[in-house]
Amino acid sequence: MEKCFIKLYKYSLHSIGMTKEMTVTPWEVEGEIDYERLIKEFGVSKIDEKLLARIKKHSKELHFMLKRGVFFAHRDMNWLLDEYEKGNKFFLYTGRGPSGKVHLGHIMPWLMTKWLQDTFDVELLFQMTDDEKFMFSDKLSLEETNKMAYENALDVIAMGFDPKKTKILVDTDNAGIMYKEACKVAKKITFSMVKSSFGLNEQSNIGEIFYTSMQAVPAFLPSILKKKNVPCLIPHAIDQDPHFRLTRDILPKLGHYKPASIQCLFLPPLTGVSGKMSSSADSEDSVIYTTDTPEDVKRKINKHAFSGGQPTFELQKKKGGNPDIDVSFQYLKMFFEPDDKKLEKIYKDYKSGKMMTGELKQILIDKINAFLKEHQKNREAAKKQIGNFLFK
Ligand code: TYM
Repeated sequence: MEKCFIKLYKYSLHSIGMTKEMTVTPWEVEGEIDYERLIKEFGVSKIDEKLLARIKKHSKELHFMLKRGVFFAHRDMNWLLDEYEKGNKFFLYTGRGPSGKVHLGHIMPWLMTKWLQDTFDVELLFQMTDDEKFMFSDKLSLEETNKMAYENALDVIAMGFDPKKTKILVDTDNAGIMYKEACKVAKKITFSMVKSSFGLNEQSNIGEIFYTSMQAVPAFLPSILKKKNVPCLIPHAIDQDPHFRLTRDILPKLGHYKPASIQCLFLPPLTGVSGKMSSSADSEDSVIYTTDTPEDVKRKINKHAFSGGQPTFELQKKKGGNPDIDVSFQYLKMFFEPDDKKLEKIYKDYKSGKMMTGELKQILIDKINAFLKEHQKNREAAKKQIGNFLFK
């Protein structure tokens, strides 16, 4: 059994005189996230220099999200690379719970997935969990989550995945192939395992209790289809790890490999550097959607992006700002400024007071709008391509 399998992922952090709570489950992320603690408690491994050097051997340049520790944890990456180097190619698997519009946080693991597909020239299976979002929502109908799956698929295709090597599965529409396999997984999972992994309880509906078996299926579906074991690598943010910890426990019992994973930090909400950007947040204004207009982006950042700057122009000039708690700087570091030299200059200028908060925000607004302009153009074009991407 994987380390720390039986755990409720709610911790109390006691530091000098104060208690901070954090909750990290696939459906709830709250409080100040202590990633070091998550590494220990989830039993994932930190991505270290040795592993980075190994990945670099296969790529011209390491992706900046790897260099900067945005992708910070993994499971079994060394095994995956051993197999790859022996000629046993892996496939990529990632997904989306289609509960609403796609936001910038969702895009982070997809950018890494795209880089991994290009770098290792591998296939991708992308899962749309319309069943999950229906089971776990009080408000959404199955028709709505199913419709949203196809809307969100446009964002996935807009990332530029190779159409010859990428397939999108929609759980309820591909149930014919998925359900059989999910049954085999479900038979190995007890209610008590689900309770302790996800915090579900007697009040949870039985669809919620069953659901994790559906998320396990794409991790071995290519092995079933190709009639031989194929290694799997799953890029995701750390909130999804409980699903895959369970999957890793079950798959060897069914004769399959354990999936490997590569895990990222959360892109924070606009309103603060902790927690995660999430559509279920109190205010729509703390989230940037892929469909936002340039005006939306400008308004949201100028009005809501938490600033590490000083309250007045004079104080900022004199004392400088704090980029480490500044959301705009963090977005540049985690997502929008790949150039290390440019990022360092922004860091120094902001910290020394040479750069004002307004200027920093403007850099970010321009970057996000340039990204969204391209993304929205690709998203429009995806409407004609979607048929090629759907799993049949
Ligand atoms: P979902 O739709 O909640 O999230 C999709 C992907 O985005 C990641 N994510 C984030 N990453 C960085 N910053 C954020 N603020 C942020 N918010 C979400 C999630 O970790 C996820 O990788 N059950 C899943 C769907 C799914 C899946 C998968 C995800 C099915 N199979 C395999 C990853 C891998 C879900 O509801 O994801």
